[in-house]
Amino acid sequence: MKGIVLAGGTGSRLHPVTRGVSKHLLSIYDKPLIYYPISTLMLAGITEILVICAPEHGAAYRSLLRDGSQWGVSISYAIQDDPNGLAEAFLIGRDFIDGQPCALALGDNIFYGAGLSGQLQVLAALKRGAAVLAYQVNDPKRFGIVELDGDDKPVSLEEKPETPKSNWAIPGLYFYGSDVVQVAEQVTPSARGELEITSVNEAYFQRGELTVTRLQRGTTWLDAGTFDSLLEASQFVQTVEKRQGLKVACLEEVAWRRSLITDDQMRERANEFKNEYRDYLLSLLQSES
Ligand code: DAU
Repeated sequence: MKGIVLAGGTGSRLHPVTRGVSKHLLSIYDKPLIYYPISTLMLAGITEILVICAPEHGAAYRSLLRDGSQWGVSISYAIQDDPNGLAEAFLIGRDFIDGQPCALALGDNIFYGAGLSGQLQVLAALKRGAAVLAYQVNDPKRFGIVELDGDDKPVSLEEKPETPKSNWAIPGLYFYGSDVVQVAEQVTPSARGELEITSVNEAYFQRGELTVTRLQRGTTWLDAGTFDSLLEASQFVQTVEKRQGLKVACLEEVAWRRSLITDDQMRERANEFKNEYRDYLLSLLQSES
């Protein structure tokens, strides 16, 4: 399965900070925000990744993420001229997807929790239909919402409903079969003028091809789209990292643990840094020797 990270948009909720820099390049504690969704895709076992960003930020992403080979993956780039909605990712990514199954990770979504990688690897094996996650939230009006029956089968889907039918939000990580581009082509703009990802999910739901996996309450899902949520996400990562001495979404570590890079490559990566990040990477090598 291929994977797209959608990192476009205007970041208008974060102006003036995001007038000069893409939201997804802002720091979540000790790493850029976009490292988190990239790590999510890598933990799901996805190694071919397309990063979609706004025209003015292309150079910054290329300079930060390069071609991905430093992490044993392939990263390519495409531009979204205007924030026309999440489903546009599949139209922009048509050539990259090339008729294969494809996952979409929103550039501002952070996942963390025990057992998550295994859960995601199962979903990334999907060939047909669509698979989404569900996460219990106390502010459901802010999200895409799914109503589930007793067997976790979807009953209804709604994007940011005024009167939510459930507290189960659909996080920004979606898995689709090889027909996702054709499905996205049929989507028309919503009342707010966007090609909604919820419309793509609705199309699969109507065909009886949408499965929903509930995330356990021990899993953390954050979206970092406001000043408060950016700060909260940073504080969360800081707390976990300081307590355990292990980093969240350290791409070199993910690559090394998944055997995408060798010990020698890990040492080379470490020596590209001159700070505590270098010490951390070298300490991983020592702890396993
Ligand atoms: O975070 C999960 C939620 O994400 C889902 O529950 C909703 O169903 C889904 O619509 C989406 O809602 P948001 O209101 O959070 O979407 P937002 O417009 O903030 O965009 C999410 C990310 O995608 C953000 O990092 C900006 C980027 N983006 C957004 C749009 C509309 C793009 O790159 N291009 C776009 O056209």
